[in-house]
Amino acid sequence: MCGIVGAASLRNVTPILLEGLKRLEYRGYDSAGIAVALAGQLQRERETGKVAELEAKLARREVKGQLGIAHTRWATHGKPSRYNAHPHMSNASVAVVHNGIIENHESLRSSLQQQGYTFHSETDTEVIAHLFDHHYRQAEAPDAEQRLLSAFRTTLSFLHGAYALGIIHIEHPESLLCARMGSPLVIGEGSEEHFIASDPLALLQVTDRFIYLEEGDHALVTRDACRIYEALGSDPRAEQARQSMPMTTTGQPAGSDPKAVLEWSEVQRPVVRYEHGDQVADKGEYRHFMLKEIHEQPRALKATLEGKVSDEGRLLTSILGPGADALLASVKQVQIVSCGTSYHAGLVARYWLEGLAGLPCAVEIASEFRYRHVVVPEGTLFVTISQSGETADTLAALRFAKTAGYLATLAICNVPGSSLVRESDLRLLTNAGPEIGVASTKAFTTQLAALLWLSVALGRERLGEERVASLMSDLAALPEQVERVLDLEPTIEALAARFASKHHTLFLGRGPHYPVAMEGALKLKEISYIHAEAYAAGELKHGPLALVDDDMPVVTVAPSDELLEKLKSNLQEVRARGGQLINFVCEHAGLEDGEGVHNLLLPKVADEVAPIVYSVPLQLLSYHVALVKGTDVDKPRNLAKSVTVE
Ligand code: F6R
Repeated sequence: MCGIVGAASLRNVTPILLEGLKRLEYRGYDSAGIAVALAGQLQRERETGKVAELEAKLARREVKGQLGIAHTRWATHGKPSRYNAHPHMSNASVAVVHNGIIENHESLRSSLQQQGYTFHSETDTEVIAHLFDHHYRQAEAPDAEQRLLSAFRTTLSFLHGAYALGIIHIEHPESLLCARMGSPLVIGEGSEEHFIASDPLALLQVTDRFIYLEEGDHALVTRDACRIYEALGSDPRAEQARQSMPMTTTGQPAGSDPKAVLEWSEVQRPVVRYEHGDQVADKGEYRHFMLKEIHEQPRALKATLEGKVSDEGRLLTSILGPGADALLASVKQVQIVSCGTSYHAGLVARYWLEGLAGLPCAVEIASEFRYRHVVVPEGTLFVTISQSGETADTLAALRFAKTAGYLATLAICNVPGSSLVRESDLRLLTNAGPEIGVASTKAFTTQLAALLWLSVALGRERLGEERVASLMSDLAALPEQVERVLDLEPTIEALAARFASKHHTLFLGRGPHYPVAMEGALKLKEISYIHAEAYAAGELKHGPLALVDDDMPVVTVAPSDELLEKLKSNLQEVRARGGQLINFVCEHAGLEDGEGVHNLLLPKVADEVAPIVYSVPLQLLSYHVALVKGTDVDKPRNLAKSVTVE
């Protein structure tokens, strides 16, 4: 998704901005741009394609200054093109970068056109530049800084939707305005310099000290100081939740009226040190971040489990937050809400929550949940799962849930300072370290480990001490088991060649391995662009069997569990139609290679942790198929790492 970087410094900020953009490349984008203030002028350059192309352009034309903003765009309103790329400007005096969607941009655009503004792009963002210019011209204030802030606040009051913003004005060559509502933004603190970015990773080359803006905050940032203001009198989160709720019965969309006039008060936000080191620029010995992250899983799983079990095998539930113990004891059911890979983690967890904790569990995609008129059963714990903690739909679902009568909210997340973590009552951090590859790998398996731990924590009375201890030792054995699966990479690489000329693949699984198969199919389609669908194996003869012929690879996930015999019959059905079976199978399953049947043997592991172990070879398969196909593994087309717009 779109990425923002900004800087106010004594040195030339152009290289800082460009490096920041490069570090945001992993999020996915289609064009990039920069605007820098120098000698009473705003210089702007924009380019489609990679940041390197913008950089090449900048090398031909000197663009430098001590204040600037930059952006990578992931097209939503208007196609990828130079004229739609940010920054957007108004009257050569205002430059704006924006992440999010302005929902009332059409009505704002027509009222600005009536006032004489000409639009040069199809974007929703351009209205912000003209709106700001308009209010700046009208603003009356005792001094220049007050005028700038007053114009900014009035502009913000007209915006409905989600935004992280960076704005500079020609008459204020030391001031960088920024705001957040629904899209993340951090301020980076340097020595006599300040920065802004949509993700701390963009700024690790210049600082490791960050201030996370809260929803509704805006700030005036200069090289020496940053002043942050929060809204008083109306809760900006409530406003956001209102906007993201289902349509009212009258079906009225957001209009172009300003929000109720707000009072502002200066506020101190804590400075947080980023403790993961700067892993962004470094693929180490690996060809891609995705491969590096697949191989990091033993370490990531260990880090996820650290601090969650005492030496005596007791579950340390207090890490979830204050009052967690009492709260867990009163949970009667669980509602999980998430997107994509994180949704698949939730689907696996349902088997654990029901089987181990004996709790009814519903799992839903956030973009559906947030628009349903949900009925909340008493004592329901609302759980969100997210790698980034900034996924727009998951966040909106959480905000809605907070008004809907759930017992409490719990975020399972990889990013400690993220909105999801900060806004939930309880938090369970996965500690996988930054995930750069767009296709999620270590985030998924660590989410699973965290969810299994949570299921045991919720079911510990029912399970009894001995069973709890044995499940914890199964979890503790995971890093080593995953290591053994990673050793199978050369065999998996050889299998990948079979997919090179294929257009479709079926993935099959049963029980918790059905969502594992769904995740395998998602990985394959994301990075190799081969159409892949997952089915619960028992559903085969209810339709998908019609697709199977000798050109159809069918990937199955077959651990040695109570459903294995049933799965074997499903495999017979596939073979009888000529389907090419590629089975990820337990070494004790008793399946043999034969014509059209290729078995990749995996170690026997405890049933509960098998979904975690069996996910790993599927990741490796997708990775190697993508290599054969020659796709951009870390940045697959059309996709973004962190989906911060709806
Ligand atoms: C797929 C993938 C996505 C994300 C989804 C949710 O490989 O990464 O499907 O899982 O966009 O993102 P988070 O987990 O950040 O909420």
